[in-house]
Amino acid sequence: MQFDLFDSAQNQILGAKTYSDFKEALAGSGCVRCSLSSSRTHIVVDRGNPQAKVMIIGEAPGENEDLQARAFVGRAGKLLDELMREIGFNTEKDGLIANVVKCRPPENRAPLPKEVEACFPFLRKQIQFMQPRIILLLGATALRHVIPDKGEFSMGQEAGNFFSHTAYPGIELMVLYHPAYILRDPRKRPLMAEHLKRFQQCWIHTPPS
Ligand code: URA
Repeated sequence: MQFDLFDSAQNQILGAKTYSDFKEALAGSGCVRCSLSSSRTHIVVDRGNPQAKVMIIGEAPGENEDLQARAFVGRAGKLLDELMREIGFNTEKDGLIANVVKCRPPENRAPLPKEVEACFPFLRKQIQFMQPRIILLLGATALRHVIPDKGEFSMGQEAGNFFSHTAYPGIELMVLYHPAYILRDPRKRPLMAEHLKRFQQCWIHTPPS
């Protein structure tokens, strides 16, 4: 039965013993758990270093990510790299970047709750493998889906503050403005740079995972 086939493919991915086996299995799976599969070019698993102590979680791949099969390689990704470089953080070496959903939504719309639900086991597995000390959530969509009991919030109040959550024991979380938002409103860049300084202080004093 087709459903069994989907289940066994998913079990193979989620049952992987190492991060690289997981990544290879997911990237090559031809996953059809949600309708984003019909318009994507590639499944975008991540970019960066799965041994690092910092995980960065964005929303969903865009056009460049879909074509290159790497997270945050378009304009927003270049800005993210630049902002992180300013605090001495190398996004290829010092962190792993992933998204809430692994396939590009059409017209870059926000992922739908049913798409996030279908894809979330993969992000959860990435977090389990990586055991990060710090998770940075890029933008309101990432915050909403990674912390679904957050309720109503305003980015103006949440961005740049560390918090913890029982679903992620031992992990410091911080939500930041999404770099695509900074591209649209560059006046917010100094504020994001301030938030990143706060992150930097925590990051440099945190022992490895
Ligand atoms: N925006 C995201 O949220 N993720 C990407 O990978 C690229 C742009």
